[in-house]
Amino acid sequence: MQIRKPLTANALRKMKADGEKIAMMTAYDAAFARVMDDAGIDALLIGDSVGMAVRGEKSTLGVTVDEMAYHCRMVTRAVQRAHVVCDMPFMSYQASVEDAVRNAGILAARGGAHSVKLEGGEEYAEEIRRIVRAGIPVMGHIGLTPQSVNLLGGFGVQGRGEENAKKLLRDAKALEEAGCYAVVLEMVPRELAAKITASLTIPTIGIGAGNGCDGQVLVCYDALGMNPDFTPKFLKRYANLYEVIGDAVRNYAAEVKSGAFPDEEHSFGDKPAQKK
Ligand code: KIV
Repeated sequence: MQIRKPLTANALRKMKADGEKIAMMTAYDAAFARVMDDAGIDALLIGDSVGMAVRGEKSTLGVTVDEMAYHCRMVTRAVQRAHVVCDMPFMSYQASVEDAVRNAGILAARGGAHSVKLEGGEEYAEEIRRIVRAGIPVMGHIGLTPQSVNLLGGFGVQGRGEENAKKLLRDAKALEEAGCYAVVLEMVPRELAAKITASLTIPTIGIGAGNGCDGQVLVCYDALGMNPDFTPKFLKRYANLYEVIGDAVRNYAAEVKSGAFPDEEHSFGDKPAQKK
């Protein structure tokens, strides 16, 4: 097996300059990460969406730094080429700059993250500067910021109306100036996302933000069709794993009950099988 070096934050940044789109998806464990890495995904995000997508919680707020480091380590272990970004979870950077640097350090050192992502605009410029100064690249995240769901009042589109659009543009610029190497735009009208993209030298990565962004990200369980009840407008399903896995499990259970599994081919006799 050929060992390759993972893409760096700078390599992702250069993709914008080269006009190459960035394909990013979330991953939470080694099994999924390996498939995605082998399939050529550019970046894997250990999103705090793990709280909702994997654990079935109603928000991302309950996820801790230790849990993120645990999931991140599983992903980095499996990856050869993809850049691995780890989300800084709720309250790991909001209370102080010191918290921000320490917790980013935990995700990089213990989780093996190549970079970290945090939610928020110009108000987090200092935290971003200090994390970058500590040697850890930072991806920003504006628009819908799910850690502020209680303040925003839901998971809806952000940046509509002149004032809100101006604020998002200002935030995006502030993130670039603070040293972010890329920024996620979540649930932003496509015209505004395209305008922000054109105003930055760093790549934008959209989710629910149209195709004017420099890259796209989707939550893997959503994109692969694990949850038939989650059907937001922006989501395109690239597989229906709910059906594929359901069919396989029904088949297995039926064969166990009928006695068809395990057959001779899938069991051991008292003599070792003859080598062919
Ligand atoms: O947690 C997450 O999965 C994210 C993406 C939706 C961008 O932040």
